Amino acid sequence: MLAKVVYMARKTTISLIKCDVGSLAGHHIVPKPLLNVGEKNLKKALEKGLINSYYVFNVGDDLQLLMVHERGEENPEIHKLAWDTFQEASKKALELKLYGAGQDLLKTAFSGNVRGMGPGVAEMEIEERGSDPIVVFAADKTSAGAFNFPLFRIFADPMNTAGLVIDPKMSGGFKFEVMDTLENKKVILKCPEEMYELLALIGTVQRYMVSRVWRANDDLICSVGSVTRLSLIAGKYVGKDDPVLIIRAQHGLPALGEVLVPFMHSYLVEGWMRGSHWGPIMPVSVKDAKCTVFDGPPRVVALGFQVSNSRIAADDDGKPMISDLFDDHAFDMARTEAVEYASMLRHMGEFEPARLGIEEMEYTTLPQILEKLKGRFEPA
Ligand code: 13P
Ligand code: 13P
Ligand code: MG
Ligand code: MG
Repeated sequence: MLAKVVYMARKTTISLIKCDVGSLAGHHIVPKPLLNVGEKNLKKALEKGLINSYYVFNVGDDLQLLMVHERGEENPEIHKLAWDTFQEASKKALELKLYGAGQDLLKTAFSGNVRGMGPGVAEMEIEERGSDPIVVFAADKTSAGAFNFPLFRIFADPMNTAGLVIDPKMSGGFKFEVMDTLENKKVILKCPEEMYELLALIGTVQRYMVSRVWRANDDLICSVGSVTRLSLIAGKYVGKDDPVLIIRAQHGLPALGEVLVPFMHSYLVEGWMRGSHWGPIMPVSVKDAKCTVFDGPPRVVALGFQVSNSRIAADDDGKPMISDLFDDHAFDMARTEAVEYASMLRHMGEFEPARLGIEEMEYTTLPQILEKLKGRFEPA
């Protein structure tokens, strides 16, 4: 009998794991010594063959570890590498008396997976196509619901993505996995057929968050986002979730430009000062990803690269080729809008809707203030 030969397609995993380990002068930026810890540990992991490529960066006060490897999603060794790196960076932050050292490390004992322990995770395992362009997004001073709007535009809105109309490979539409973060449940909705139902859910950005998107024809994975809610893990406000997102582009998927066009305009997201306000998202380059005015406005960066043979395609010196996509005048208008909207919202001070509604404020220190007044209320 002929032995059956099973050819295993080579799989590549892109892991983007982030954590607020401490910031310089408030919550605005990850300083160099902490980035250096990330760089040192990931370089070591590369030399040991645990990962094949990496890129360390920051968005505001969040340390971002982008790793490409062949170990699959939720791999304990990869998660341990991230966890140990965040612990070490937090220790350094504590030594330097930086602000909020170890902020997002909510649990102390690592048990194989950083999910649910504070850090944000987006991981996508793929079978590489002939050429596989990837965009990763990372935002500070907001939550995962901030990506609902652009994800809808990119994968469901034919007025945004010309490919939905023009490219037959996309005409079957896309499937969205939506998390109900309050009840810890998920549902898959298919567009265009269930577009209205999808909008009914994901318009509620504080509760429903798009976690995954597949091309409907063949279930090709094309988007994975982090959808944790720190306040639900910790039971109190400890900082916002500051989400990350991985998107695959081109050749039967939205083109790079279709992935980026939703960011030509600013829009409002929850987060900003003390995680308690609506604020305008500002697409920026990594060098401008520092949160200043009212601890913001909330920033988002986008990095473009190619995965090739389970690596980030590298230049002649072996350096990963990364394009800082919002480092472009095409996003000047969105940045100007963000400043204008920020100014308008701050005129309203602590009055809703500039401040978040009462449900989200439950997780802040506001209830302590209200508690103080409790005994002073009289029947009216
Ligand atoms: P603290 O100054 O008490 O840390 O609060 C402000 C803030 O930035 C909340 O994270
Ligand atoms: P981070 O979630 O980015 O740490 O922000 C905390 C905060 O309260 C900013 O005002
Ligand atoms: Mg912080
Ligand atoms: Mg942050």
